Amino acid sequence: MLARNRFILLVVVGAVLAIVSLSLQFLNLMPTTPLGEEQVPGRGVRTGLGKSRKRVIPVPHTEPPELDPIAEAYGYCNTPNRTEQAWEGHSPADYTLLSVQVMIRHGDRYPLYSIPKTKRPAIDCTLSPSRKPSHPQLSAFISHMGRGELGHWESTLGSVPRLPNHSACEMGELTQTGVVQHLLNGQRLQQAYHRHRLLPGDWLPRQLWLETTGKSRTLQSGLAFLYGFLPDFDWRRLTVRHQRSTLFCGPEACDCPARGRYLEEEQRRQYRLRVGDARLEAAYVDMARALTLPPRQLRASNPVDSLLCHLCHGLPFPCLQTPGGAVAGEKACLTVQQFAEIRRQQLDDEADKRRTGLYRKYAVLAMHPFLNRTAGRMERAARAAGAGGAKEAALALSSAHDVTVAPLLSALGLEEARFPRFAARLVFELWRSPPGPPAKGGGGKAPGAGGGGGEAFVRLLYNGEDVTFHAAFCRSHKRHGSRPLCPLKNFLSFVRRDMFASLNASSYHEACYKRPG
Ligand SMILES: *[C@@H]1O[C@H](CO)[C@@H](O)[C@H](O)[C@H]1NC(C)=O
Ligand SMILES: *[C@@H]1O[C@H](CO)[C@@H](O)[C@H](O)[C@H]1NC(C)=O
Ligand SMILES: *[C@@H]1O[C@H](CO)[C@@H](O)[C@H](O)[C@H]1NC(C)=O
Ligand SMILES: *[C@@H]1O[C@H](CO)[C@@H](O)[C@H](O)[C@H]1NC(C)=O
Repeated sequence: MLARNRFILLVVVGAVLAIVSLSLQFLNLMPTTPLGEEQVPGRGVRTGLGKSRKRVIPVPHTEPPELDPIAEAYGYCNTPNRTEQAWEGHSPADYTLLSVQVMIRHGDRYPLYSIPKTKRPAIDCTLSPSRKPSHPQLSAFISHMGRGELGHWESTLGSVPRLPNHSACEMGELTQTGVVQHLLNGQRLQQAYHRHRLLPGDWLPRQLWLETTGKSRTLQSGLAFLYGFLPDFDWRRLTVRHQRSTLFCGPEACDCPARGRYLEEEQRRQYRLRVGDARLEAAYVDMARALTLPPRQLRASNPVDSLLCHLCHGLPFPCLQTPGGAVAGEKACLTVQQFAEIRRQQLDDEADKRRTGLYRKYAVLAMHPFLNRTAGRMERAARAAGAGGAKEAALALSSAHDVTVAPLLSALGLEEARFPRFAARLVFELWRSPPGPPAKGGGGKAPGAGGGGGEAFVRLLYNGEDVTFHAAFCRSHKRHGSRPLCPLKNFLSFVRRDMFASLNASSYHEACYKRPG
């Protein structure tokens, strides 16, 4: 229960931060808080905690936690200073794990914007095993990255630095915290899947799929995750693939005119809500006065991104620097109260976003291509398992951004999931039930997608929590004690048809090219 309460708290925190982060990445595109589907403040996550390996029992949500924007912000930081429960790899006895597909958000990074007239936060982005937070594998990871030229790198990825390496971080650079977060993620999954022998020791290149955007923070995050999962992996068997779009839709499926229209509408909604918020306005005026800036200029510098970084790294909030470099007086500093006000508005925005549903429509179109690839891989893996030859990747890892993970959560209908914190992970597991007579209560035995006698099932996990039965594709599925997972066919029909119902369409193409109106 402790774990659950902590999770709820984290969720709430995450929501707030989400807003922030999104704003950062997409300042221009999404003026306010492009949160994905945030966890609503004051609401529990209501995920099923996989207490027992046999059953996934939904825990009814009880007491809403107090909304505290600061506590929420700490959850977003995802400071690697505690152990966390991870429910990946839990299944009924005798089920076989066929494949795992993971999408991660990059780990902790330096801000993308700086606040004028203040000193940038002093953070060292070089890696040092003796500095905190550290990880027992950090020095081995650093030396392994030094042999990266043995790997295969798609397009320009070979020239992206494989380690953060600036003693004064550059904008957006991954920090040591970010590296450690993903070493831990990989290690957790290694422990979760070890006994299922997901990847054999002599894995083949086609059994491992790694893709990333061209940013150093995603590439480095993906490598740290992979190293945690597969220490000392053989570089010569690894190909690192490049996704040009942050939506991971490439290359064929990225055109979708309707997607842009929904995004614009969503941005107008966000803008209207923000300019109508008097408390937010007052906070910006205050902050601008302290820094002797025009409020408009302060706003454009997206101060919440930088303030979050200060918070996550335990640094005092920034103060006005006089030309001589000295700090100008007590009053001339930004405050936690001002920061909390921005976060509060971001949470309000999340609730409004969920209510209007525009973002969800955008998200369905934005993430269909990725989900379609995920579904296709599962279908082929289930089939191949019957035929005895695994042609499909056993592990697929996509190293992405908040503007990827947030719409993915929304498209899956995980309205309660919190905005992706640093180093968030979303995991799709594919399982096959044992051959033999159908289990009691399971109804007739459907052919399923797989041979080998059993049927194929999906589990979905977000930051280690089982959210399978909160996702749109399995919310209405009746669980049986004997069949505690979601049939693959539910997921396939969701991705191929049902997800477009909210757009009055039955296919991606139809939804994308429908006339507006
Ligand atoms: C971990 O760090 C966070 C934020 O820095 C802090 O609030 C929390 O108390 C720390 N937890 C532990 C167990 O040290
Ligand atoms: C990091 O950069 C320094 C110089 O800036 C260089 O000497 C060092 O070899 C680099 N380390 C790695 C691992 O790239
Ligand atoms: C979805 O994936 C299938 C293969 O699994 C492919 O044939 C189809 O074109 C894809 N559809 C879209 C819209 O990407
Ligand atoms: C879908 O169709 C219904 C009725 O035909 C209409 O009221 C609704 O606005 C349509 N929704 C979209 C997203 O086009």
